[in-house]
Amino acid sequence: MSDILVDAHMRSMKKLRVSLLDACNFRCIYCMPENASFSTKESRIPYQGLVSIIENFVKLGISEIRLTGGEPTLSPDFMNIVRAINHLPLEKLAVTTNGLTFKKFASELANTNLKSVNFSLDTLQAKKFHNITKVDGFNKVMESIDLALAYGFSVKINAVIMKNVNSDEILDFVEFSKKKNIEVRFLETMNIGVVKPHFDRWFMSADEMMAQIQTEHKMTLKPSPKDSTSENFILDNGARIGFIASESKPFCSGCSRLRLDAKGEVHPCLFKNDGISLVDIPLTDYQNLMPNLIAKKPMHRIKVQETPMYQLGG
Ligand code: 5AD
Ligand code: SF4
Repeated sequence: MSDILVDAHMRSMKKLRVSLLDACNFRCIYCMPENASFSTKESRIPYQGLVSIIENFVKLGISEIRLTGGEPTLSPDFMNIVRAINHLPLEKLAVTTNGLTFKKFASELANTNLKSVNFSLDTLQAKKFHNITKVDGFNKVMESIDLALAYGFSVKINAVIMKNVNSDEILDFVEFSKKKNIEVRFLETMNIGVVKPHFDRWFMSADEMMAQIQTEHKMTLKPSPKDSTSENFILDNGARIGFIASESKPFCSGCSRLRLDAKGEVHPCLFKNDGISLVDIPLTDYQNLMPNLIAKKPMHRIKVQETPMYQLGG
């Protein structure tokens, strides 16, 4: 395969996250400002344009695509995009969703090559679910998760852990993993956007989370690929868990991701604001554009986050 997507540190770009839109039907306290303003439909490129860009990246060696948002299932073209990229030679086609409207798409998706669904779920308590997301959607999300399991999707749960918010539920999530046979990944809260004023109060490191789990369980480390963002474990009760330590142990030096947004701009990193538009750019021009873009990928975590998470995908 071409080496256009390899940087000077020999990081080879394998994964593309595609944010289908920045809007979301949740207002998670660590993500969305109450007065979030979303881009208009006009600023998004027609989905065929996004698909062309994705196709070009696959020709250059991208082997994993994750659809994100905002909430990707809110895009009117969500299924059109899945169908259009369904034939691409990918190792993995995945979606990250909050699960509220996932049910609508489950049966149709089950007939595609999209086999992996990550649900964002930060609590197992209905009332707290409302406190965190501002939406009364706990039961619907749980139904979506059960449906995804019933259809045989590979399901993961992403839980952002905040002290004094949901850190008391870590062991409950471990039980949940065992009971449902789902991998649960605990995410450190990232100090970006709306988190900033709360960060010192909320932040709990992956080490602290592990210490809590180890009071009850023996944890065995599982081998992970070198560009993995999570450290994964199997527990003595059979639970499968992982930790995404974006703050305490950033994984920049092994990062193999690029990000594409709904405007057709590709971004080297969540923490860098220097995206370039690929709208109507022919594949032959990627040869010049990509090395410059990838060279901007930092090797270490940048402290200042410029673009809100919901615009570039989690
Ligand atoms: N810290 C950690 N994770 C976050 N996400 C959104 N904002 C943050 C943050 N500040 C996560 C969501 C979801 C994914 C899309 O991004 O929980 O799992
Ligand atoms: Fe929406 Fe996900 Fe942000 Fe929550 S974390 S507001 S579900 S984009």
